[in-house]
Amino acid sequence: MTTVLDLQRFKAEGRRFAMLTAYDYTTARLLDAAEIPVLLVGDSAGMVMLGHPTTLPITMDELVMLGRAVSRGASNALLVGDLPFLSYQASVEEAVHNGGRLLKEAGMHAVKLEGGGPTAVEATRRLTEAGIPVMGHVGLTPQSVNRLGGFKVQGKDPKVAARILEDARELEAAGAFSIVLEGIPSPLASKITAALAVPTIGIGAGPGCDGQVLVVHDLLGLTTGRKPRFVKAYANLGEQVVEAARRYAAEVAEGVFPDAEHSYSGSLEVVGEANPEVKYGGR
Ligand code: KIV
Repeated sequence: MTTVLDLQRFKAEGRRFAMLTAYDYTTARLLDAAEIPVLLVGDSAGMVMLGHPTTLPITMDELVMLGRAVSRGASNALLVGDLPFLSYQASVEEAVHNGGRLLKEAGMHAVKLEGGGPTAVEATRRLTEAGIPVMGHVGLTPQSVNRLGGFKVQGKDPKVAARILEDARELEAAGAFSIVLEGIPSPLASKITAALAVPTIGIGAGPGCDGQVLVVHDLLGLTTGRKPRFVKAYANLGEQVVEAARRYAAEVAEGVFPDAEHSYSGSLEVVGEANPEVKYGGR
């Protein structure tokens, strides 16, 4: 199983690694089979799984439920659970309580929280002291979308860039075992990566990070609408889903499905009687 120490080793060895989001059992099993070393039960689930326009509405209980499903499906990956909006900002006690829930109830191995500054740094310190490894997240922090005025690249301005670098340094000093760099210029991400001993994981932060992360729906081509520049789809499952559903509906309408191959044979006498050999899905 991948641990937080393995990520440190990957950085020391100059080995780049991948992280993907996962929100359900089946996908977690598949990504584990693909040997993805880190799976993030991200609060992006609020958007791609629950249909919210931002990550703000998703709750602790929803994150715990999705995390449970992922931890049932993955046995090799390091599992990181996102602390959702307002689950750690109000007090350090709440941060430790909610971080603990992600480990105790959802089976995560670590948590992620967004932003720098005294609150995030103190929460990182206390969670780490409590035995809950913390992944930081700086740059474009989607939980602050209202303060940032949209999902905009951060750190183009030198003062903001310096602040992001300082946030990353402070999170590392507080015990963060890795830091996500989201939506920042590539040169800034490379500079932060060189300045830190812990690995950085980029999304929209260029090739200079130690690892990369994508939302799995983007990777698989399941998301619709305008894609951010940093998204690369490695499959086109969205189109395949629509096509498969259309073909199925057409075959049902034409009476082509189910055919003999997908039907059970038997004498008329058993019709209407429970057959213990036949379970749902033919299993
Ligand atoms: O919630 C999420 O998916 C994330 C990644 C984009 C890093 O935070």
